[in-house]
Amino acid sequence: MSRDLDPGLLPVDSADPALRPRNLDEYVGQERLVENLRVYIRAARQRGHALDHVLLAGPPGLGKTSLALIIAEELGVELRPTSGPVIEKRGDLAAILTSIQEREVLFIDEVHRLNRAVEEVLYPAVEDFRVDVMLGQGPGAQSVSLNLPPFTLIGATTRAGLLTRPLRDRFPIQFTFEFYSPEELAVIVRRSARRIGIEIEDAAARELARRSRGTPRVANRLLRRVRDFAEVEGEGRVDIDIVRLTLDRLDIDEEGLDAMDRRILHTIAVKFDGGPVGVDNLATAIGEESDTIEDVYEPFLIRRGLVQRTRQGRIITSRGRQALGLPRAAGSLF
Ligand SMILES: Nc1ncnc2c1ncn2[C@@H]1O[C@H](COP(=O)(O)OP(=O)(O)O)[C@@H](O)[C@H]1O
Ligand SMILES: [Mg+2]
Repeated sequence: MSRDLDPGLLPVDSADPALRPRNLDEYVGQERLVENLRVYIRAARQRGHALDHVLLAGPPGLGKTSLALIIAEELGVELRPTSGPVIEKRGDLAAILTSIQEREVLFIDEVHRLNRAVEEVLYPAVEDFRVDVMLGQGPGAQSVSLNLPPFTLIGATTRAGLLTRPLRDRFPIQFTFEFYSPEELAVIVRRSARRIGIEIEDAAARELARRSRGTPRVANRLLRRVRDFAEVEGEGRVDIDIVRLTLDRLDIDEEGLDAMDRRILHTIAVKFDGGPVGVDNLATAIGEESDTIEDVYEPFLIRRGLVQRTRQGRIITSRGRQALGLPRAAGSLF
């Protein structure tokens, strides 16, 4: 059966296949993680065994899907992509599991969004390589236990904290992704520019990298816009002025904060008097989903020290106020 037609299997989000790193050597940054991963892959290959199950956790755009593809590539096996919300019924997962070949990789994106019933099918599958399927319907239905070939589950999540404990415990290998340094992002920007045929000056690549929220996906997205401006408003070649012009037009500030980042900061600072404010109240005030705030925006704002998460809710830090050009909070010692 064609993979494209298989309901439980999804094509991997193919925003930019040309820009994805194709192997571990092309994978920039995340050094500790990559170093250890090389060892695990090599050991599994030498033994001729399936790699242990892997959990990849971190904010969107940091390279989880890319890494899953690379793991399969380095293992020399197929990757079967699917995602948590797509698998609705136990039978959907059972069907996927029974089609997996030995040592292949099953990739479940957004693995924290699997429903409970489906998750229960996954437990024996990853632990004992066994799946229970129902044969027939109604009173005559029979449950039979099928053996599966050993395979590797790779789960990706933007919210490791939302994984149930039993599911989390079933991943022997767990990696948490870090935001990228400007230097690492500059390497990615220069490589992407080469791949899509853009001439970019070094200072321009560094400026773009510095203002890309520590996120390769953002850097690549901005690079495409920079190219548009370079071709239409400049002479094609990307210099630092073109980068500045583009980011200005996209409302991205010196720190790399975009309009939504600033809106979040501003709402906490002004509407909630600096906080603490719960994420749901914040979301309502801004008109954005609280999940999006927690998954996409907040991790970077926290990383930058602009927002803090306390037990009572989010507060803006004095650096956060500075980033908005607001005076320090009254009575603040800092
Ligand atoms: N380590 C990396 N080295 C080079 N490019 C990367 C790296 N990580 C991510 N990218 C780029 O960023 C894009 C988004 O990465 P992706 O793997 O889809 O992120 P995630 O699955 O974590 O949301 C990729 O298409 C790739 O172009
Ligand atoms: Mg992804």
